[in-house]
Amino acid sequence: MKASALSCLLGGTLVAAATFNPVDKIHKRDVAKSDPYYPSPWMNPEADGWAEAYIQAKDFVSQLTLAEKVNLTTGVGWQGEQCVGQVGAIPRLGLRSLCMHDAPIGVRGSDYNSAFPSGQTTAATWDRVLMYRRGFAMGSEAKGKGITVLLGPVAGPIGRSPEGGRNWEGFSVDPVLTGIGMAQTVSGMQDAGTIACAKHFVGNEQENFRQTGESHGYGYDIAESLSSNIDDKTMHELYLWPFADAIRAGVGSIMCSYTQVNNSYGCQNSKLLNNLLKDELGFQGFVMSDWQAQHTGAASAVAGLDMSMPGDTEFNTGLSYWGTNLTLAVLNGTVPAYRVDDMALRIMAALFKVRGTIDMDPINFSFWTSDTYGPVHWVAQEGYQEINSHVDVREDHGSLIREIAAKGTVLLKNTGSLPLKKPKFIAVIGEDAGSNPNGPNGCSDHGCDDGTLGMGWGSGTATFPYLVSPDSALQARAIQDGSRYESVLTNYAPDKTKALVSQANVTAIVFVNADSGEGYINVDGNMGDRKNLTLWKNGDDLVKNVSSWCDNTIVVLHTPGPVLLTEWYDNPNITAILWAGMPGQESGNSIADVLYGNVNPAARSPFTWGKTREDYGADILYKPNNGGDAPQVDFTEGVFIDYRQFDKAGAEVLYEFGYGLSYTTFEYSNIKVEKSGAGKYTPTVGKTDAAPTFGNYSEDLSDYLFPKDEFPYIYQYIYPYLNTTDAKKASADPHYGQTAEEFLPPHATDSDAQPYLRSSGGNSPGGNRQLYDIMYTITADITNTGSIVGEEVPQLYLSLGGPDDPKVVLRDFDRLRIDPGQTTQFTARLTRRDLSNWDTEAQDWVISDHKKIAYVGRSSRKLDLQIELA
Ligand SMILES: *[C@@H]1O[C@H](CO)[C@@H](O)[C@H](O)[C@H]1NC(C)=O
Ligand SMILES: *[C@@H]1O[C@H](CO)[C@@H](O)[C@H](O)[C@H]1NC(C)=O
Ligand SMILES: *[C@@H]1O[C@H](CO)[C@@H](O)[C@H](O)[C@H]1NC(C)=O
Ligand SMILES: *[C@@H]1O[C@H](CO)[C@@H](O)[C@H](O)[C@H]1NC(C)=O
Ligand SMILES: *[C@@H]1O[C@H](CO)[C@@H](O)[C@H](O)[C@H]1NC(C)=O
Ligand SMILES: *[C@@H]1O[C@H](CO)[C@@H](O)[C@H](O)[C@H]1NC(C)=O
Ligand SMILES: *[C@@H]1O[C@H](CO)[C@@H](O)[C@H](O)[C@H]1NC(C)=O
Ligand SMILES: *[C@@H]1O[C@H](CO)[C@@H](O)[C@H](O)[C@H]1NC(C)=O
Ligand SMILES: *[C@@H]1O[C@H](CO)[C@@H](O)[C@H](O)[C@H]1NC(C)=O
Ligand SMILES: *[C@@H]1O[C@H](CO)[C@@H](O)[C@H](O)[C@H]1NC(C)=O
Ligand SMILES: *[C@@H]1O[C@H](CO)[C@@H](O)[C@H](O)[C@H]1NC(C)=O
Repeated sequence: MKASALSCLLGGTLVAAATFNPVDKIHKRDVAKSDPYYPSPWMNPEADGWAEAYIQAKDFVSQLTLAEKVNLTTGVGWQGEQCVGQVGAIPRLGLRSLCMHDAPIGVRGSDYNSAFPSGQTTAATWDRVLMYRRGFAMGSEAKGKGITVLLGPVAGPIGRSPEGGRNWEGFSVDPVLTGIGMAQTVSGMQDAGTIACAKHFVGNEQENFRQTGESHGYGYDIAESLSSNIDDKTMHELYLWPFADAIRAGVGSIMCSYTQVNNSYGCQNSKLLNNLLKDELGFQGFVMSDWQAQHTGAASAVAGLDMSMPGDTEFNTGLSYWGTNLTLAVLNGTVPAYRVDDMALRIMAALFKVRGTIDMDPINFSFWTSDTYGPVHWVAQEGYQEINSHVDVREDHGSLIREIAAKGTVLLKNTGSLPLKKPKFIAVIGEDAGSNPNGPNGCSDHGCDDGTLGMGWGSGTATFPYLVSPDSALQARAIQDGSRYESVLTNYAPDKTKALVSQANVTAIVFVNADSGEGYINVDGNMGDRKNLTLWKNGDDLVKNVSSWCDNTIVVLHTPGPVLLTEWYDNPNITAILWAGMPGQESGNSIADVLYGNVNPAARSPFTWGKTREDYGADILYKPNNGGDAPQVDFTEGVFIDYRQFDKAGAEVLYEFGYGLSYTTFEYSNIKVEKSGAGKYTPTVGKTDAAPTFGNYSEDLSDYLFPKDEFPYIYQYIYPYLNTTDAKKASADPHYGQTAEEFLPPHATDSDAQPYLRSSGGNSPGGNRQLYDIMYTITADITNTGSIVGEEVPQLYLSLGGPDDPKVVLRDFDRLRIDPGQTTQFTARLTRRDLSNWDTEAQDWVISDHKKIAYVGRSSRKLDLQIELA
């Protein structure tokens, strides 16, 4: 078995079984609650962008038997097939098993695929076209491997706390920048023929305590996953926002998360899935569970879950909340037939919408091994054949990766040492400049910080086809230029380092990093979430030492978010600081492009670089705070995360959100606003149709018996069949026999026509279509006042004006290429949603009476121009 598969298999038990840590014995708290919301909305036949797919899916699903429908909804179990998750096939109609596979930066656990820059690094480009092209390239690679759904992009976590382990997988702490990243990536992936999966829905903001098994492995005796307690306004204005953009872009699937929201699990929270996602936002695709995030059968079905991943109750139990149980639940009337029809319809509609057909490339790799031949059914060790064809899907994506990472590298400080021009002598210092001695894929799921950091750790990773280290790329460039070049690729050789960087004519480039990842791997005491905001491996001492010995020290940072630079950033010997994020396979080439000015930097920081940890406000919960019950994380800061919090507190920053330098200079002038003729907002009215059912099904239990004569039972495989016509025995559930009335909430099985929510889109996914009306168009002139061509990222901020509103919020931006001496017009738009607040009384978006001011500037704190909106 490959290392990556092993660590995932072990999941939370990777840490040696520890005795349970004593948790604070505080008395049981009054905890937040989530209101029930039923029934689960069924697909809308006329939804924008889905109508054709609906017809194709309806034709297909109408031909299916109940067992076939259930097959579509339920994974075959952990390691049952080649991908990280697959559902049952429908051989009778020629549909092969759908493959759900990681990751948001490329294909995980395969070979001859590319490793792309992280979402966060891509966000730092502020370049919509590059976001789309990355999505398209990842979608093409996934398609070429036979993947049906690539598990990304990520908007949860958005980055409530800077230490959040998976923040780098997402885009930015800002919902607008993240929303654009989501929409562009979804469009790119799906145009390439791969269904995207927007995740993790929603409030999945930390790794600690997201899963009980994992927490037990770390010695915490908690009975339930943590609860993110989020008020309605914050939910809409911050956490839901980027998901709305993904839905408007037509995303085919959404992954619900491990965490609870208001003490109800993400994959069975009817308010989240039925109300917010499917009703208000009009999501027409399917909701799949995160791996092992499903905790109930009938309850999650009526709460809006559509696909169980990877299908077993827990890894390798051979049992399922769905599969056999879902078949039984329909037959005994607990789960209405229309709900399973709707699940199947949503899954098939997503497939038809993105691919137009049920024909798919063969699955050409196995996640569980890199051997060419092996068992298709990994856990059963059955079906020996060629399982890795080593298909090369990379095309020329290396050059795109190089471009994105270079254009996503933020120049934070430059007193004139950059760009480099044939320097006489370069000394590169630090482990982060070199290679991992065990190879670029030397640690299971990248769960270590050895050598240069190209990506974080966990399931959000991809296999590097190669990793260009900064050392190799900079050396190659130095040789080409006739420079002298030496590197010290360890942080722990102060004497050698001092001797080297104290020499005459040296340009010292120090590479330092910090890492983070997913909760099932603990790297140096960081259980996914970072435990602090400082550099790893004595990085701060290294920078301080080198800069005390050398007056031309350039610092390059590879990090998953902010680190505290407070102690050294203003040392005059530090002549430049760059944040290169997590650049992917072309790391060295990308940073060389920026250092030498082949790419004139224009990236902007997608988060704030604060002076202290405390200034960030909202923190990770590192210790359980509710006895042995679910830890409670109260999102009391509301929408005030990152720059909104710094602005509210009036805290000084080192480098603010949206900040970044160029090798040229720009001037902003001539702001103008034009009001559009968008009409008055009208709430959506009307009703859905009654819930439709498609096809018919037999009520005779003997029709669902396992077809022994047709194929053998594969060990631990999850099927839709029954072992016996004794329903209770077939379910293997001692509690079998409860009726819907006994254990499901009121209205859970209603099939009557339902009124549309006023805030909902009716036929328009993403919410009321008038929310996206353009209300104002703002223009400004941007002039390149320097002597070289450059790109500039003008940003539109808005003051909503209310006492509870952030000082300013980002609303639009562009990345413009401008020749020296030339002036280009920046055009930004404000939609109705942009100008609104979520009104909890009205349960709708409302534009307040407070004065609205638009700003055009080069960062969240350099607001050059302003204009009042009348
Ligand atoms: C969580 O509780 C808060 C406070 O009662 C409420 O505003 C919000 O709508 C609830 N959210 C969910 C998803 O239950
Ligand atoms: C369900 O899927 C499995 C393969 O995953 C397949 O063997 C079986 O025939 C399918 N059942 C039906 C009813 O299509
Ligand atoms: C059915 O679900 C219950 C839990 O609700 C579980 O205990 C049982 O093992 C499942 N049965 C099968 C056949 O997977
Ligand atoms: C129906 O089936 C489901 C799934 O096995 C089970 O949980 C429930 O108790 C059953 N109810 C009745 C009334 O048989
Ligand atoms: C991989 O794809 C190639 C070309 O599409 C095909 O010939 C081969 O059979 C596939 N291999 C597997 C294991 O699916
Ligand atoms: C190199 O260093 C020497 C000694 O400080 C100095 O005289 C010379 O000008 C330097 N050359 C360059 C190209 O910096
Ligand atoms: C922060 O965490 C890193 C990684 O575990 C560690 O190397 C560093 O020493 C820690 N910093 C402090 C100040 O403890
Ligand atoms: C910094 O320099 C001091 C003095 O030479 C040395 O003791 C220490 O180990 C150095 N630390 C690093 C990380 O270079
Ligand atoms: C800057 O570097 C020089 C050596 O070139 C050193 O003497 C001086 O102390 C350094 N200054 C600071 C503030 O570290
Ligand atoms: C479903 O209806 C069709 C057409 O009326 C019929 O031929 C078929 O036998 C029915 N199937 C089941 C499983 O009841
Ligand atoms: C159903 O039968 C298969 C094959 O005999 C067996 O492996 C499996 O455990 C049985 N499942 C249940 C829930 O009894």
